[in-house]
Amino acid sequence: MHWRFAYLIRCWPLSVCFYFSPSPFGCKKVLPRLDSPGRMHPFLRQALMPRSDLQFNVTPHFVHRIFHTENAFLPKNHTLERALRGDDQTSGEPLRVCVYLDEGLLAARPNLALEVSRKIELIQAAGDPIELVAEPMLVPGGEQAKNDWSVVETIWQQLAALPLSRHSRVLVIGGGAVLDVVGFAVATAHRGMRLVRMPTTTLSQGDSGVGVKCGVNRFGQKNWAGAFSVPWAVVNDFAFLASQPERERRAGLAEALKVALVRDRQFYVYLRQNAGALNALEPEAVQHAVAESARIHAEHIAQGGDPFEQGEGRPLDFGHWAAHKLEQLSEFRLSHGEAVAIGMLIDLHYAHCVGLLSSENLSGILTVAREMGLLGPLASPDVQRELNAAATDDHAPLLEGFEEFRLHLGGQLCLCMVTEPGVNRDINVVDHEALQRALQETLALAEYAALA
Ligand SMILES: NC(=O)c1ccc[n+]([C@@H]2O[C@H](COP(=O)([O-])OP(=O)(O)OC[C@H]3O[C@@H](n4cnc5c(N)ncnc54)[C@H](O)[C@@H]3O)[C@@H](O)[C@H]2O)c1
Ligand SMILES: [Zn+2]
Repeated sequence: MHWRFAYLIRCWPLSVCFYFSPSPFGCKKVLPRLDSPGRMHPFLRQALMPRSDLQFNVTPHFVHRIFHTENAFLPKNHTLERALRGDDQTSGEPLRVCVYLDEGLLAARPNLALEVSRKIELIQAAGDPIELVAEPMLVPGGEQAKNDWSVVETIWQQLAALPLSRHSRVLVIGGGAVLDVVGFAVATAHRGMRLVRMPTTTLSQGDSGVGVKCGVNRFGQKNWAGAFSVPWAVVNDFAFLASQPERERRAGLAEALKVALVRDRQFYVYLRQNAGALNALEPEAVQHAVAESARIHAEHIAQGGDPFEQGEGRPLDFGHWAAHKLEQLSEFRLSHGEAVAIGMLIDLHYAHCVGLLSSENLSGILTVAREMGLLGPLASPDVQRELNAAATDDHAPLLEGFEEFRLHLGGQLCLCMVTEPGVNRDINVVDHEALQRALQETLALAEYAALA
């Protein structure tokens, strides 16, 4: 370990961390003799030389391919080969592919590994030299995969043992957690391999799977280690949704309501008009909501001007300061979708308390959320406990979510507020009295939810 001393110099709004390495030669040999430049240490002479500063713009180009289909592994369905190939038709070399599967999916699709292998054989037989370099590999499903660093190590070891390059494809099929952990391993292996995602939940098809982020949980924080990385392609196969447990399928639609509230009034109107069908998980309504949510998310990423979140405003993180903290405080008994629903409720009430959102708009949105079946998690003991604590105590654990959110995203605290459906605005300061009122009003909603 060479870097022995680290100093964090904090001069808000910029924090700088210095690492110092003690010289292996001792001070005397390195100290410069400024009076006699000829005897100056070469490293220092170089450092003191006048030079011109350089600055370039580096603008990489990414294509974000998103396909929607049903039953991608059927022989007549050609979506998968289009996604694997993309526009890369060039080399005559076989295209090497390896596959990761969400273990939690296998109870519902025990033959999934076989279906994928057969599909790749069919593609090969049709003349496209795509080669599966290993049997599909399994990753534990759900948040445990993101909480356990050894999962990343295992994926790295597996990738390193296979004849793969950064031009090969890694196909991952699973929920948002498995996409995140495999995505992180793949984004860092060979400095970034080509990832084809097949999300299998409402949340991952409509939100995380079409995003450009991946990450795992470290040091008690959600997504602390992660990367921005545009997937090679995304295939949303609606057939997967049928086996997703109903509670999670419904909760995943919270992200659809989120993106409608922050960006798209027309989509909000669709959700309002179809809230009952969505609550009943009618496939047509769910598929439309998921596809629209995916489109609006991807459009925001591609056209919003800040795909890798270098600035402060993050409308897609609406409600997420509380959501990430609630997931963690509930020890992940709350799913991400459920936590996002609660986080949005808190922030909607807050916006109302500080006069940013009218009573009429608040009550309209709450009705939609209730009719979509998104208020259920309010009854969870974890939510009740954390919201009660935060409503009365300025030092409650939930409120640490603000600082963690600020540090994770960088810059000053910046929260997205909805001022009317489809319109958002950032705020940088939180009024604690108003927040406590908002938390109390959110808690009072549990009774209203019970009437649903
Ligand atoms: N990278 C991002 O930008 C981003 C954005 C939002 C959320 N996320 C992450 O996504 C994760 C949540 O993802 P999720 O809601 O998709 O759930 P999940 O991945 O946690 O999956 C939940 C459970 O469902 C199982 N499962 C998955 N698909 C199934 C299917 N079709 N049928 C039956 N079971 C199935 C999984 O094995 C798991 O046990 C969280 O970790 C969250 O932080 C990431
Ligand atoms: Zn989210």
